[in-house]
Amino acid sequence: MKTIQTIAIIGASGNMGAAISKSLAKGNYRLLLCANDLDKVQAVAEEIQSNQPAASVEAVDCSVDASWEADIIIAAVPHDAEREVAQKIKEVANQKIVISIANPLNDSYDGLVTAPYTSAAEELQKLLPNAKVIKAFNTTFAADFATPVIDGKQADAFVAGNDEEALQTVSELVSTAGFNPIVAGDLSVSGTLERMQLLLIQLNMKYDYNWLAGWKILHQ
Ligand SMILES: NC(=O)c1ccc[n+]([C@@H]2O[C@H](COP(=O)([O-])OP(=O)(O)OC[C@H]3O[C@@H](n4cnc5c(N)ncnc54)[C@H](OP(=O)(O)O)[C@@H]3O)[C@@H](O)[C@H]2O)c1
Repeated sequence: MKTIQTIAIIGASGNMGAAISKSLAKGNYRLLLCANDLDKVQAVAEEIQSNQPAASVEAVDCSVDASWEADIIIAAVPHDAEREVAQKIKEVANQKIVISIANPLNDSYDGLVTAPYTSAAEELQKLLPNAKVIKAFNTTFAADFATPVIDGKQADAFVAGNDEEALQTVSELVSTAGFNPIVAGDLSVSGTLERMQLLLIQLNMKYDYNWLAGWKILHQ
């Protein structure tokens, strides 16, 4: 029998963190939700528990405690908070999967704050050298979690990382959230995924372009 994995979601009260938490509550996971404000996280946990009584979900006051207990840590925080989060969890994240969902957009949404040769995910990996950082969910909007199936097909969600087993584990997690996981490559592909999302956000702002409906690999 497969052991239940524990997932710490740091930033669980935010748009993405709450959406990811609600989606993963459908799976066979134990979820530990945390952020800065415990009351907001508690509200998300209560909403999940009331809608999905069988879910294993808990609000935790401290991201270090949650990460210590977790097998997988999701950093669902803004890019500029990743350094602080990494410093806090560094000692307890060794050998664990840490998922980076960040898009390091600048304030005017017309560029990235990261250098061209790197990415938020690679920067996080440098801050957490003994963790297995995996990029996931950065091309998925929070609102998409409510409708990950378009015309009867799961929308694609890209995954990138250096550890094969971790990629497999995160692909299963992405699938549980309702999306079709596509392993895009190693962690260096994260820069492309983050720039791709920058373009898609700009197109969305300019043309109200919705790529989820049409953005499907023709693999059938
Ligand atoms: N929104 C989207 O559709 C979308 C799509 C793809 C990727 N992303 C990426 O997802 C990440 C989160 O975006 P979001 O829209 O969900 O942001 P958000 O709604 O502002 O939520 C941010 C969350 O992070 C928490 N947080 C902030 N600083 C923290 C810290 N130092 N320690 C612990 N928790 C902290 C906040 O908690 P408190 O409120 O308690 O401070 C909140 O729960 C970003 O990196 C973004 O680029 C977003």
